[in-house]
Amino acid sequence: MGNLLEVRGLKKYFPVKQGFFTKEFTKEEEWVRAVDGVSFKIDDREVFGLVGESGCGKTTIGRLIVKLMDPTEGDIYLDGKNIVKLSKNELKDFRKNVGMIFQDPYESLNPRFTILESVKEPLDIHRIGEREDRIKKVVSILKEVGLNPEKSFLKRYPHELSGGQRQRVAIARTLIVNPKMVIADEPCSMLDVSIRAEIMKMMIKLKEEFGLSILYITHDISEARHITDSMAVMYLGKIVESGRTDDIIENPSHPYSKALISVVPDIDPDIKREKIELLGGVPSPTDIPKGCRFHPRCPYAMDICREKEPEYIKIGNGHIASCHLL
Ligand SMILES: Nc1ncnc2c1ncn2[C@@H]1O[C@H](COP(=O)(O)OP(=O)(O)OP(=O)(O)O)[C@@H](O)[C@H]1O
Ligand code: SF4
Ligand SMILES: [Mg+2]
Repeated sequence: MGNLLEVRGLKKYFPVKQGFFTKEFTKEEEWVRAVDGVSFKIDDREVFGLVGESGCGKTTIGRLIVKLMDPTEGDIYLDGKNIVKLSKNELKDFRKNVGMIFQDPYESLNPRFTILESVKEPLDIHRIGEREDRIKKVVSILKEVGLNPEKSFLKRYPHELSGGQRQRVAIARTLIVNPKMVIADEPCSMLDVSIRAEIMKMMIKLKEEFGLSILYITHDISEARHITDSMAVMYLGKIVESGRTDDIIENPSHPYSKALISVVPDIDPDIKREKIELLGGVPSPTDIPKGCRFHPRCPYAMDICREKEPEYIKIGNGHIASCHLL
């Protein structure tokens, strides 16, 4: 398998909006360091998870990859081509190859469009197939995403559907142009627990059928465990551990990954895992702690952790983590 996507040294800093008086008195500009030097690779047909607490930068990475915004620093390669700077024509082709599924399907569905119009629109934009073929293609993809009977959905509007059905329509709209890669940003988190497993199973089936790679974003490590082949655990804009999902779940090496895994109820009931309590809350991304950014919450923090940022250490085949204990 080859790399389809590679992200190198990616950073995204947002300026903090300051009032007139704070600006006058502080002079210095403040930045939200949402993504602070992130690198990873995703293979062809691989499902790669980005996991971490709210605000750690997952969605920002997804939005940078689909070019909804530009990075502050760093490069993103798709099929070996750097996509950070693309011409208008290249950008159109890129949009066909990389799709995004949002947590809220309304982000990609126009409430005034029928399901037929919404799902067909990408075919119209990219001028794929004749008019008649396009409608046939919509019917066929609605079937693929489990909307049954598929023709009964064509003239309906998003508000006439359940949340799960709406997400299926959004998935159909993303897949209809046969992308190589899909960024799925918490696609199940707004859905009822009973539908989540179904949607996840369907995504794996579609991944096989369409030969897709998926970047699967979730705050829930047990969800990532079920759907991903590899994953990266993020904390405050940085990856703290990455590798094959099984390796991380069986042998988490960073205290933060250990803590996340220690509270998942259904992992290896035979293995007794010490429950690791994180201290306090997540610090502000405008004021990232010096040294290891996890040190204020880490139960194992040592003096060196407050001073020196740990480097990535190789733990096994493709498994790395950054902690002074390693
Ligand atoms: N457009 C923006 N302007 C300023 N700050 C932003 C912007 N977008 C995101 N941020 C900040 O960047 C940080 C990372 O946000 P992001 O949405 O990427 O996190 P996340 O991991 O997806 O969180 P969640 O699990 O809550 O979706 C947060 O502190 C957020 O407030
Ligand atoms: S480097 Fe130190 S503070 Fe950071 S995770 Fe490791 S032990 Fe904890
Ligand atoms: Mg998010």
